[in-house]
Amino acid sequence: MIAYREIHDMDVEIIINLWKRCGLTRDWNDPYKDIALARSGPASAILVGKIDQRVVATVMVGHDGHRGVLYYLAVDPEFQKRGFGRATVKAAEDWLRKLGVWKINLTVRAENYDVSGFYESLGYVVNPVVSFGKLIDGTWPDVHP
Ligand SMILES: CC(C)(COP(=O)(O)OP(=O)(O)OC[C@H]1O[C@@H](n2cnc3c(N)ncnc32)[C@H](O)[C@@H]1OP(=O)(O)O)[C@@H](O)C(=O)NCCC(=O)NCCS
Repeated sequence: MIAYREIHDMDVEIIINLWKRCGLTRDWNDPYKDIALARSGPASAILVGKIDQRVVATVMVGHDGHRGVLYYLAVDPEFQKRGFGRATVKAAEDWLRKLGVWKINLTVRAENYDVSGFYESLGYVVNPVVSFGKLIDGTWPDVHP
């Protein structure tokens, strides 16, 4: 039985390790900074799924005042394909629903398109939009999602 709660300080290193093992970290994203920002206000959170005392899943969830968004969805590779990904997305949806958010927009990195089948099996559909990004104060030549 998996149980979800918001992240505690003691989870941080374990979670970053999980994100690395799941291929979610990128050189241009500092995961410590990402965690701190997500924990800094009421519009976002990091949910941790635990079985007994073991962290097996995470999702960063939040909203921008209009739409909900998910990041850092991860299930420990040893626990994948047992329904925990689906349960973790549902935990995030429940979190947003309580705040009155009724639609989620999320992005999947181009190199991770394979995961589209996962979201489709949960009822997500491709939005007919083009996604733009910009570093507000950055100097990199590329824009990274
Ligand atoms: C994506 C991820 C969270 C899925 O977790 P999971 O626990 O294996 O998923 P579930 O067992 O809950 O699967 C739910 C459904 O999605 C399907 N599914 C899972 N991974 C899939 C994939 N890569 N492609 C297609 N379908 C997939 C399952 O078959 C299942 O379908 P069913 O309910 O009809 O049987 C997990 O593979 C993961 O952590 N991946 C690495 C990190 C990542 O890519 N995160 C997403 C970033 S956008």
